Amino acid sequence: MPLNSFRPGKLWPDNHGVHLNAHGGGVLFYDGVYYWFGEHKIEGEAGNAAHVGVHVYSSRDLYNWKDEGIALAVSDDPNSPITRGCILERPKVIFNPRTNKFVMWFHLEPKDAFDYSGALSGVAVADSVTGPFQFVSAFRPNAGVWPENVPAEAKRPLSPEEAAYVAKLDLPGGPVPYYPKQLLFRRDFAGGQMARDMTLFVDDDGSAYHFYASEANGTLHISKLSDDFLKPVGKFVRVFPGRFHEAPSVFKRGGKYFLISSDCSGWAPNAARVSVAENIFGPWEELGNPVWGTNEQTATTFGAQSTFILPVQGRADDFIFMADRWNPANAMDGRYVWLPIEFKHGVPTVSWHDEWNLSFFDKASG
Ligand code: DGJ
Repeated sequence: MPLNSFRPGKLWPDNHGVHLNAHGGGVLFYDGVYYWFGEHKIEGEAGNAAHVGVHVYSSRDLYNWKDEGIALAVSDDPNSPITRGCILERPKVIFNPRTNKFVMWFHLEPKDAFDYSGALSGVAVADSVTGPFQFVSAFRPNAGVWPENVPAEAKRPLSPEEAAYVAKLDLPGGPVPYYPKQLLFRRDFAGGQMARDMTLFVDDDGSAYHFYASEANGTLHISKLSDDFLKPVGKFVRVFPGRFHEAPSVFKRGGKYFLISSDCSGWAPNAARVSVAENIFGPWEELGNPVWGTNEQTATTFGAQSTFILPVQGRADDFIFMADRWNPANAMDGRYVWLPIEFKHGVPTVSWHDEWNLSFFDKASG
């Protein structure tokens, strides 16, 4: 029996009856078909590292997903940056009409780097939407480039005293009162900026942007990609220094850019945030929590964390909030929370539905 609704948080069978395995994912609409790419996780705690790769599924209706296999496989070569056992998170795929290639970016940590100290961006490329993707490179983005939005006097590497001070700080990747808001991008100028949770966004003019949690997760970077989408072009901004935004997901509606993101609390859920900007490079303004519901729902984003905002095709103003309900003890059993975005006075909000379908949007208001 084909599915005809979304049931957030429930098991979601693919065409073989197997729970979808595409965590931290994103969706690309290409040639009339939706493709959902995400982390393939195995059973148990071991599933928090990558043992298989990036899984891809296809769908025409968003409810029924066909298993299209592994789009990017981890490598058997122990010297490969994507060797089996690395940490490969939040893959996102975009299509480049100039090169006719599908380009995947993801957050990469070397094998066994469970402290997430690698903070690398990985890039892979394919000629066909479902792959196979070939690994291209892994790096810390924007080495040797100063952010666009810092004053001239901040554009200098750390002094030896500043470097010694920063080296002593314990920066666990979550909020700490001593977070050095203006030092880490200067520390990382030469080697490249830390890049963890991420998304990609392609603007109406075909330019692509990489949003990534940088500077020990405390500061978000928005970085323009090169024309071939394979690397940063050397133009980026820092936003919300010290505010710790993870799980960035971005969409554009009515000429405005919206960002839904989370706080940083590891696998444990926390309250989401929505931010808005007229220009992708800012200024960005944080508006508050987009989740409407019970105290528990608003404090935990329905027990989930954003991963992508899916534009519903043929409906310019309709978007689906995609989030992951993580299960780090049995990673493969993570659940998907897909909910409609409702605009209240032009601001995106998300409310709970046990079950819903796309006809919801027929009655939604703006
Ligand atoms: C939260 C991130 O959003 C996930 O992608 C993952 O990196 C976990 N933290 C790891 O604790």
